[in-house]
Amino acid sequence: MEKKTVYIETYGCQMNVADTEIVLSVLHKAGYTPTSELEGATLAFMNTCAIRENAEEKVWNRLEHWRGFKKRNPDAVVGVLGCMAEHLRKDIIKSSMSIVDLVVGPDEYRKLPTLVDATRATAESGIAVKLSRTETYDDIMPFRAEGISAFISVMRGCDKFCTFCVVPYTRGRERSRSLTSIADECKQLEQQGFREITLLGQNVNSYDDEGKDFSDLLAACARAVPNVRIRYTTSHPQDFDQKLIDTMASHDNICKYIHLPIQSGSDRILKLMNRTYTRDHYMGIIEKIKLAMPNAAMSTDIIVGFCTETLDDHEMTKSVMREVEYEGAYMFNYSPRPNTKAYDTLADDVSLEEKSRRLNEIIVLQNEISARKNLIEVGGEHTILVEGRSKRNEIEWKGRTDTNKTVIFPRLDAEVGEYRRICVTRATSATLFGQLMDQKESKTIMPHSDRGEVIYDALPHVGSAVSIDRQNHAFELPVINS
Ligand code: 5AD
Ligand code: SF4
Repeated sequence: MEKKTVYIETYGCQMNVADTEIVLSVLHKAGYTPTSELEGATLAFMNTCAIRENAEEKVWNRLEHWRGFKKRNPDAVVGVLGCMAEHLRKDIIKSSMSIVDLVVGPDEYRKLPTLVDATRATAESGIAVKLSRTETYDDIMPFRAEGISAFISVMRGCDKFCTFCVVPYTRGRERSRSLTSIADECKQLEQQGFREITLLGQNVNSYDDEGKDFSDLLAACARAVPNVRIRYTTSHPQDFDQKLIDTMASHDNICKYIHLPIQSGSDRILKLMNRTYTRDHYMGIIEKIKLAMPNAAMSTDIIVGFCTETLDDHEMTKSVMREVEYEGAYMFNYSPRPNTKAYDTLADDVSLEEKSRRLNEIIVLQNEISARKNLIEVGGEHTILVEGRSKRNEIEWKGRTDTNKTVIFPRLDAEVGEYRRICVTRATSATLFGQLMDQKESKTIMPHSDRGEVIYDALPHVGSAVSIDRQNHAFELPVINS
């Protein structure tokens, strides 16, 4: 019998990468084997992102590109999954003129095998985009590629309703997986050889499993796998509390890296964005973080050119960047999204040209901050998790610091998945370079904590919601950032 295969291209954030692993798991159970080759695939899916207009454009362009594939493989089922599916529903089937057979939203992945069968049997398009108040896929073990780094999605949806953001509409209401099943999954991942786990949620601070909050979950995971690094993303400044700071500070294997989106440094704009905190409140959190974890690295998200943003507002954003001295920032032009409150009630009155000018200004500023902070790194030490070959050549390898920085170093005896001590010898504004300090002693047990050393990292991330590197994975499906 002919082998049934599934090819998925993943766009957008880590949540989508985690969702793709759920989809692969559901389809694997139904007899489909994942493939990294589009040509010849039985199912060809795109897991899409709707956060900004350019994310959607990429998908439309790619669908155009798939027209030839569909012609050559008329029996293949082409599907659009994820946030665009939810957002655009029938438009996708109409506007791409029949090459899309299936449109399936993020809460309907269990139905995929049935939907695929129905589409193949009737040659009719299928749509399933209902959002659920309960679906967490808690019982589905994601189909993960081999590697050292894994994602666990711990909660889904978002109830914050920032006025610019489409996520509450594409991913629906907040709901959490159970603490025990997540801690158990951490243990299984450790047994499978994973050395780093990232807990994911649109707004992890809203995690709630019958009264157990995100700090309880983080502590439970850190205790379940003491020799595995735990990271998490993303936090909302309104709910970021002292308990979470204390939990992070008291576990060596919880990475001292915090992504805390500020969006704007102007209280007036924050109010229009419905961010529900002030600049002062945000700076208060930063102070508490720096008090408890002086060497913690911080990154943020910033939107420029939001409705009515003046040059004064923009200057306030720049001043907050200088004050916090982020290690890295994800910076974006405001992109009006249909259905959101800002789209419906506020004028998108900063021209594209002016948005781009402001964006460029904050990119330059962030690069200056990064370069300055990276210089201080030289001579300092880190524990890195060895990730494998760098892109440049076979001799140079790369690893990641607790503070989420990439360090390039001569390989010597390093192996993928080891924690090793490294001394920083050189730095650019984007990368650290170093030398291994130890020879084969640390292996798979994490050496002592990085706390108490000079650690300043910087990684400017520009216009990209996430940087995902799956180089070490034996089986690899494409991930396209937006
Ligand atoms: N335009 C620009 N950036 C946006 N983000 C979310 N919605 C928009 C939008 N409409 C950014 C925010 C958020 C990150 C994931 O994407 O900065 O924190
Ligand atoms: Fe969007 Fe705001 Fe929710 Fe983040 S917190 S996903 S920006 S609505």
